[in-house]
Amino acid sequence: MALLKYDPSGALFDHGGTSPIELDAIAPRLESARAEVLADADLWARGVETPPEKQPLDAGFHRLPDRLLAELAEKGAESEVARLRATADRLAGDCKSVVVLGIGGSYMGARALLEACCHPYYNEVPAGVRGGRPRVYFEGNNVDNDAASGLLQLLGTRDEPWGVVVISKSGGTLETAAATRIFLRALSESAGDKLPQRFVPVTGASGKLFDLSQALGAPEVYEVPDGVGGRFSVLSAVGLLPAALMGLDIEKLLAGAKAMNDHFESAPVAENVVLQYVGVCHLLEETEECSTRVLSTWGKRLEATGLWYDQLLAESLGKQEQGALPLTIVNTRDLHSRGQQHQEGPRDKVITNVIVQSQDSEPLAIGELSLGGSDYNQDKLNELSGKTLPEVLKAAIAGTNQAYAEDNRPTADIVMDRLDEHTIGQFLQMMMLATVVEGRLIGINPYGQPGVEAYKKNMNAILRG
Ligand code: PA5
Repeated sequence: MALLKYDPSGALFDHGGTSPIELDAIAPRLESARAEVLADADLWARGVETPPEKQPLDAGFHRLPDRLLAELAEKGAESEVARLRATADRLAGDCKSVVVLGIGGSYMGARALLEACCHPYYNEVPAGVRGGRPRVYFEGNNVDNDAASGLLQLLGTRDEPWGVVVISKSGGTLETAAATRIFLRALSESAGDKLPQRFVPVTGASGKLFDLSQALGAPEVYEVPDGVGGRFSVLSAVGLLPAALMGLDIEKLLAGAKAMNDHFESAPVAENVVLQYVGVCHLLEETEECSTRVLSTWGKRLEATGLWYDQLLAESLGKQEQGALPLTIVNTRDLHSRGQQHQEGPRDKVITNVIVQSQDSEPLAIGELSLGGSDYNQDKLNELSGKTLPEVLKAAIAGTNQAYAEDNRPTADIVMDRLDEHTIGQFLQMMMLATVVEGRLIGINPYGQPGVEAYKKNMNAILRG
């Protein structure tokens, strides 16, 4: 795997307990967890009845990228990928802004893709810089009156056409359903009889949102495929439609994910980024009680991807009073907030750095400060004036890892040579595979989220009571 490398070579190998030998020792268990995950994907694809001990089995995400790419090659314009692109292009042509409604797995992946792959000020830059694509706003991911009102106000102040993409697999999630009503009312005022064309639902093959979409005459309704759970759905229409709307290359995204599938299936344990990641995290949790998984992203573009991963890990493995605590940080920002605790707090953390080795823009030099004919060096930065921000970042990563190593605090690195649709596709698929492998390794079914139902039940009882 050329572009994405997992390198558990930080303090980990100097750490008292875990060593490469021990990682070798769990290789057979990792092999067997991989075999089970592959068998799950086959079982799901065969469409046979899921045995009771495997239920629920939402393994449909695994080969989804392969399937969508094969269908694109075979059916061209009739394929789902081509249809998604066509819908996104149509909506982008009709609308200057699109509100994407959804929560949890129906929201976090799309946001991750926007932050990772689009302009850092995507909504603010002129449309031409966005390639003529619409601004994208996320709502329906909370019940925050001020946030929803603020967005409605913003849309109202612009005399421009806008649209709604609503994403809900069940079609009954209250946060999203309530926002759908609120935004559809406003859309009706803005779009009049064009409302059906400006409203694209992504939902299950049946359910309340499906019924509402039919009743409203939405011409295109995309399906969240059966057997793909919310937090595993980023590479279905759930993430692909918003991504295509933002002008991202969704074929490249899927190709990255497929490359990760191929790697996962064929690479030996010692070279397998998925199995290495699981092995290191699992061993450190088991032998060193490192029950907090810090995903340390360097630079701002991966924060939402980290939050997507927080959900993936927490909802998949946080069951039966087990499951590591995920924590995404963004450095160097959070070195100034959480860094103290990570350096000197409880020894309960494994820190995985996510490092992108290049940037899209020209490196900015610190340079000299010459203003109005005068030179300023009160900040004593002239000796660093030749350094660029990427060089400072590199020094910060090396310096932080060194500081952790000197105190025997375990770190490891996931390295991408660049950040684009291909590498983010690899990364998302890597983390989804790692999560289900770990579930099989520790005997926790990674699918389903029964614990989320408790609050919903109570909230509904209180509201309807
Ligand atoms: O991972 C999950 O399944 C959840 O986070 C769901 O995505 C979330 O609850 C939203 O559900 P729905 O898409 O049915 O509205």
